[in-house]
Amino acid sequence: MIPIAQGIYRVDRSHAWNYGHAPKLPRVRRLPAAPGGRLFDYRLNSPLGVAAGPLLNSRWVEAYARIGYDILTYATVRSGLVPAAALPNIRAVENREQAAVATRRAGANGDLTLAVSLGTPSMEPDVWRKDVRRAHEKIGRNQVLMVSVLGTTPPGGDREALVNDYGQVAVWAAEAGADVVEVQLAWPDPFADQPQAIYENLPLAAQILHRVRTSVGVPVVAKFGAFRTPRLLHDTATKLASWASGFVLVHGFLRRVVDEAGNVAFEGPGRERADIVGADTFPAASRQIGELLAWRKAGCWDRAILAVGGITTVARAHETLREGADAVLVATAALYDPLFAVRFRQTRTTAVA
Ligand SMILES: Cc1cc2nc3c(=O)[nH]c(=O)nc-3n(C[C@H](O)[C@H](O)[C@H](O)COP(=O)(O)O)c2cc1C
Repeated sequence: MIPIAQGIYRVDRSHAWNYGHAPKLPRVRRLPAAPGGRLFDYRLNSPLGVAAGPLLNSRWVEAYARIGYDILTYATVRSGLVPAAALPNIRAVENREQAAVATRRAGANGDLTLAVSLGTPSMEPDVWRKDVRRAHEKIGRNQVLMVSVLGTTPPGGDREALVNDYGQVAVWAAEAGADVVEVQLAWPDPFADQPQAIYENLPLAAQILHRVRTSVGVPVVAKFGAFRTPRLLHDTATKLASWASGFVLVHGFLRRVVDEAGNVAFEGPGRERADIVGADTFPAASRQIGELLAWRKAGCWDRAILAVGGITTVARAHETLREGADAVLVATAALYDPLFAVRFRQTRTTAVA
């Protein structure tokens, strides 16, 4: 892995700057033979993809499609322009007991764990709808474009307004060429008294998925964060299976982030906690993925499972696939170890043996 300061995505620059600069990726002259794969009715070169976030626009999609990632997730889009949160908005952290701590040492050994506090920015629909179309044209054979969508509650809006907004964004994404729509449910529930995410409000999550499912003709997957208990994971997946073709788990782990002096790492309201992603999260993420796989094996429902969370080594990717995941998605590794896909293809035979 490359150190955070030298990443493909420049964490010292704004999200808008990164949006405007196509990634400079290492050249890959010849990709190793692809192992093949399948997702819904789509054939895939491989079951490896990039999770929502790193692929800011079609130029990023195009670049990663060429170096061996076959499920390309277009970063979350919304119904209006939303600028990213102020810098810093991505920091390397060490996961400690009380909090995640942003330190200089974090990530120095290449084992990156990140705190992400971007605020899920989006361009205006006119811009991203055109650009998703371009992304779809730029991906290759046996590659799939997944578009992550997030609803926004208009000022004074109620639940129905949020559900409508999710539906509208999903329709636009599908019209623009999304092969799969990923519904981002790991986002604060605006109607809850206690802080919780939308996927933790089962009636609301079901209403959103139902609306999206009945509004678009392509497969719909639901993205979840970490569940508080195995029971909640089971109940949520079982209930939502009627309205989703698959599940994407685990978005990240929401934690308090401080610097070494104990001050908040991200300034501004609502930024005390951030999504912790990357290397350190693998044990916890794979436990949750394992539970989801076990419920599916038990016959509770039969939906695709797209694993995400801390898959920062090729061995972890193969291990997760061996356990039964339909696909593995990476975000941190895509940004800090872009040749991950090449090694993933090279090592598949030995890893499976
Ligand atoms: C820089 C960055 C930006 C992200 N932006 C989004 C986003 O816009 N929407 C989303 O659903 N997830 C976003 N994520 C979360 C990833 O999709 C993924 O769930 C998470 O990073 C865990 O995977 P990893 O451990 O391989 O990084 C982002 C992650 C990173 C590192």
